[in-house]
Amino acid sequence: MGFNIGILISGQGSNMLNIIEACQANKLISDVNLVVSNNPDAVGIKKAEKKGIKTATILQSNFLKKKDFEDAINFELKKEKINLVCLAGFMTILSEAFIKKWKNKIINIHPSLLPSFKGLNAQSQAFRYGVKYTGCSVHYVDKEIDSGKIIDQEVVKISEKDTIESITRKILMKEHILYINALKQLEEIYIDGQDKK
Ligand code: GAR
Repeated sequence: MGFNIGILISGQGSNMLNIIEACQANKLISDVNLVVSNNPDAVGIKKAEKKGIKTATILQSNFLKKKDFEDAINFELKKEKINLVCLAGFMTILSEAFIKKWKNKIINIHPSLLPSFKGLNAQSQAFRYGVKYTGCSVHYVDKEIDSGKIIDQEVVKISEKDTIESITRKILMKEHILYINALKQLEEIYIDGQDKK
């Protein structure tokens, strides 16, 4: 049966769409049951709806406290019986309390070879530093930013001809491969959302 996946997004949702399509094409044994956006303009929400996925838009600005915003997200995830949360371009830092609730059940994709270039604009950080290889990482989310245990990584070579834009595109293409492979690995470890061991 795999996981009941909930995906949190803030933007275009290309990783989200890729995961939905992999599930619908039975490349994964999991299902995406919910997509949540924290951005009213996230175009990813429309893409999810077109694929028949339930969506919710939850804006932090509608809540006085961050806790209430996160409780609203948690409520939607629980309502849909989500047992794996995938962050896919979700550009908000989740609190320790939220992460604790989803310990080992929340993963993220980051556009660098962690532990290098954490935080925002990781592609530009790597490009400007002048590294010859960068890439992307899927990792468990823990209380430190972009620091949880790494599940898998993909490498992208930076050539003389590359620009920040071309590198960002190359990384995103690798992200799409990586996120599916990481989910396959998790499906092997867990069964029906429960640890096999
Ligand atoms: C992706 O490159 C993802 O790695 C990055 O945002 C982009 C979202 O693209 N996430 C982060 O930088 C998180 N720190 P998408 O909406 O097309 O999947």
